[in-house]
Amino acid sequence: MTSQSDSQLSTDARQLLESYGGIPAEEITDHVVKVRDEAWEVFPYPCIGQFCFLDLSLKHTTVYPEVPQHLAEGQRLFDMACCFEQEIRQLVADGAPSENIYGCDLREEYVKLGYQLFQDRNRLQSHFLAADIFDKSSSLADLRGTFDMVYAGSFFHLFNYDDQIEVSTTVARLFRPVKGSFIVGRQVGTVNAAAHDHRTNPTGKMYRHNPRSLKEMWEKIGHDLGVSFTVDATLQQLPSDHFRFHTEDTRLIHFVIRRE
Ligand SMILES: C[S@@+](CC[C@H](N)C(=O)[O-])C[C@H]1O[C@@H](n2cnc3c(N)ncnc32)[C@H](O)[C@@H]1O
Repeated sequence: MTSQSDSQLSTDARQLLESYGGIPAEEITDHVVKVRDEAWEVFPYPCIGQFCFLDLSLKHTTVYPEVPQHLAEGQRLFDMACCFEQEIRQLVADGAPSENIYGCDLREEYVKLGYQLFQDRNRLQSHFLAADIFDKSSSLADLRGTFDMVYAGSFFHLFNYDDQIEVSTTVARLFRPVKGSFIVGRQVGTVNAAAHDHRTNPTGKMYRHNPRSLKEMWEKIGHDLGVSFTVDATLQQLPSDHFRFHTEDTRLIHFVIRRE
């Protein structure tokens, strides 16, 4: 790992790999680079190249303090597009019962790499499924109506506007039909909501939201599902090195979408 990529591995990620994964501090860099290189061969997502795949954002959200407690009480969390499932490991490191947590990703190889990264195949009891969210007959359909909390990090932005409506509706159908269930997450957003070219996305486009467009989209989804959602969203400046890939008005958008 170069000194630049070394600094891209957050303190949070280092702590988790050391304390939960049991990787000695002096071996973490080589260990992460080895897994990163294997992951890049699976699919060259920019976040993998940039070592963002170990970013931990859930623990910094306003809802996080309640999440391990809810899981301990029997609620269930779904990590949509979990990739290496680092957020799940953080929850377990913070005392959440791993069996109440599910993760789903298109690429089964990432689940294997997650076990390799965190060295926990024999102790983690979370449930992982490989499924394409667009596949109506996937194992996701069996899980409808069974979750209280969903984490979605850097996922919805992979799609154009119409596909975001479809995948968001599928995710919303995972909720138990009670008030208070929520989706928490973050993704690439913008000051001026619009579609942008993005080479690794299925349609070559990504729709970037601002808080207002996200709210409007969820009003439509709620209308179609006969449910209402509140959207609490904020924009955050990106670190300067992200501007290699983004434009002046690009931001991160953080959101909590609650079922009323
Ligand atoms: C940019 S990564 C985000 C990973 C993780 N959530 C995070 O924040 O670090 C996007 C993930 O979405 C998954 N993905 C892409 N298309 C998908 C689909 N159609 N169904 C399910 N997962 C998908 C990819 O395999 C990848 O792991």
